[in-house]
Amino acid sequence: MPSLRKKRLIEPPPVAASIDSRNGGAAAAQLAAQRRELAAGLGAPCPHVSPKFLYDALGSRLFEAICELPEYYPTRTEGAIFDASLPAIAAAAGPGTTLIDLGAGNCAKAARLFELLRPLQYVPIDISADFLRDALERLRLRFPAIEMTGLGLDFSHELRLPDGVRRARRLFFYPGSSIGNFSPIEATAFLRRLRAACDADGGLLIGVDLVKQHEVLNAAYDDALGLTAAFNLNVLRHLNRLLEADFDVRQWRHRGFFNAELSRIEMHLEARSAVTVRWAGGSRHFAEGESIHTENSYKYTIAAFVSMLKLAGFGQPRVWQDEAGWFAVVHASAI
Ligand code: AVJ
Repeated sequence: MPSLRKKRLIEPPPVAASIDSRNGGAAAAQLAAQRRELAAGLGAPCPHVSPKFLYDALGSRLFEAICELPEYYPTRTEGAIFDASLPAIAAAAGPGTTLIDLGAGNCAKAARLFELLRPLQYVPIDISADFLRDALERLRLRFPAIEMTGLGLDFSHELRLPDGVRRARRLFFYPGSSIGNFSPIEATAFLRRLRAACDADGGLLIGVDLVKQHEVLNAAYDDALGLTAAFNLNVLRHLNRLLEADFDVRQWRHRGFFNAELSRIEMHLEARSAVTVRWAGGSRHFAEGESIHTENSYKYTIAAFVSMLKLAGFGQPRVWQDEAGWFAVVHASAI
């Protein structure tokens, strides 16, 4: 195959051992675990699929495209906060950290911090390992002085960092308001795990999406071009591959709306007509209008988020916001 030969010819320096070294056994075990998780979700009384399955190779690209949409304000607004306050944010965190990037994707957000933050080590983690590998190869060429270790793993259940990740001065970087995918109770537990993975000199730099006018929220998750719809529907293609399912994407409709009572965006896929879906080891009938819940994206007030951080054991946080108060970047020390 010509593409393989070409790849070998331009082979870059070896990627982080951790991305490459995932052996076949571990990969197979992870796949089996994902299949069980997916089958259980589809078979549940309220069928659901974890939002992490939105990010296959195409899903990651669709999300990148969503970030370019006028309606999708979070990425842009967070970027503007970093642009306006980067020196202060970098000063709060301090140089020489081990920057652990949770859900790194294309690594672009972290890369923008490098010059002022001056981390010693960069540890991007993403469930989409192939996507991460490509991004990291490019990044290594741009910043040869920073030690880089890429990890292709799912950190939502547990966070086991290999020995190569320094213990001192860990700075967990969790931008983009992905914390919103957890329920407040799960989010608090997750933050507590991050806190526990830090020494006293560690910290957290996190982006949080805030409660705002419902029209703004609704438009951001149900955009005019239909990119969010494609992003949501693409999970069915991913399920077809992972679970050998037979979803027909055309039979499903995207729903994305703000649930004010629970202060969260919900995304669902709704059956346009009655359909029975089959997968390896199971099946389910969906009535017309029945839906699969694919994502929650919780929106916080500053006060609610700060109390959550404190509950998780972090010290007094510093908060940066845009002028409209749509988004917040928060730094909190481990103590
Ligand atoms: C990546 C989880 C922050 O919740 O806004 C974008 C994902 N979903 N459009 C979000 C998403 C629909 C996004 N996060």
